[in-house]
Amino acid sequence: MTETSTVLITGASAGIGAAYAERFARRGHDLVLVARNKARLEVLSEQLRKEHGVSVDVLQADVTNADDLAAVETRLRDDDRIGILVNNAGASLAGTFVDQAASDITQLIALNATAVARLAGAVAPRFIKAGSGAIINVSSVVGLAPEFGMSVYGATKAFVTFLSQGLSLELGPKGIYVQAVLPAATRTELWELVGIDVNTLPAVMEVGELVDAALAGFDKREPVTIPPLHDAAQWDAYQTARQAMIPGFAQVHAAERYRSAS
Ligand SMILES: NC(=O)c1ccc[n+]([C@@H]2O[C@H](COP(=O)([O-])OP(=O)(O)OC[C@H]3O[C@@H](n4cnc5c(N)ncnc54)[C@H](OP(=O)(O)O)[C@@H]3O)[C@@H](O)[C@H]2O)c1
Repeated sequence: MTETSTVLITGASAGIGAAYAERFARRGHDLVLVARNKARLEVLSEQLRKEHGVSVDVLQADVTNADDLAAVETRLRDDDRIGILVNNAGASLAGTFVDQAASDITQLIALNATAVARLAGAVAPRFIKAGSGAIINVSSVVGLAPEFGMSVYGATKAFVTFLSQGLSLELGPKGIYVQAVLPAATRTELWELVGIDVNTLPAVMEVGELVDAALAGFDKREPVTIPPLHDAAQWDAYQTARQAMIPGFAQVHAAERYRSAS
C-alpha cells in the first residue's frame, strides 16, 4: 500500500461507501467503485474525477450473486494497483427474528458476511506477496449488543469484527493492516430500507463525521475503530477481560458447576 494506491470500495453508490470514496479521492487515491446501481456510481465517479482529478472505475456488481462476486474477486486478485479494500456493502433486515424470511436471512448473511470474507480472501495473497496493503471492514456496534434486538444483522457484524481481529493477527505480521470500523446509527438510506425513520432514533451521526473518524483510526492503524465510543478505555477493558479467559480454556475436565449430571 502506498500513498497513491487504488482503493476498491464496495457499496460505494450511497451512504458510508460514497463518503469513503469522496474522502479517499480527496486524498488523491484512484478508485474502483462497486455496487449494483450503475447510474449512481457513474454520477459519483464523474463528480470525483472532476473535483479531485483522480481516476475512477465503476464495477457494477451484486456481491450476493456468485458470478458478480467472482468478478470482484478477480479484479482484486489481478489489479496490483489496488492497495486498499473497503468492505462496506451491507444492509439490515426489517422486523424481529421470527418475522424474517429464510431467504432474506440467507441473503443478508451472503451480503454482510460471506462477501466480506471472500473479498478479503481474494486480495490477501497478493497483499502478502507485496508485503503491504490494507483491508477496512465496515462492521457495527450492533455486533457487540444482542440487547439491540437485531439478532441476524448483529450476528453478521459480530462475524465481521471477529474476522477483522483474526485477520489483523494473521496478516499484520505480513505487513497488512486490517481495520474493523464499528459505526452506531449513522444518517444513511440503510434505515429507510428497513422501514425505520432515522429521525426517530435517539442519536444519529452524520456520515461525513463517521468516515472522517474512521479514517483518523485508519491513519493511527487502529485494529478496531468505534467512532461513537467516547471512552476508549471501555473497549480496552472489554478486550482485557476477554483475553483473560483464554488461558483457562485449555482443560481436560469440565468446570465444577457442570459435574453433577451423571
Ligand atoms: N447507517 C448506519 O446506521 C450503520 C451503522 C453501522 C454500520 N453500518 C454499515 O455500514 C455499511 C454501509 O451502510 P450504509 O449505512 O452506508 O447503507 P446504505 O446507504 O444503504 O448503503 C449501502 C451500500 O451497499 C450497497 N449494496 C447493498 N446491497 C448490495 C449488493 N447486494 N451488492 C453490492 N452492493 C450492495 C448499496 O448500493 P446498491 O444498492 O447500488 O447496490 C449501497 O451503496 C453497511 O455494512 C452497514 O451495515 C451502517
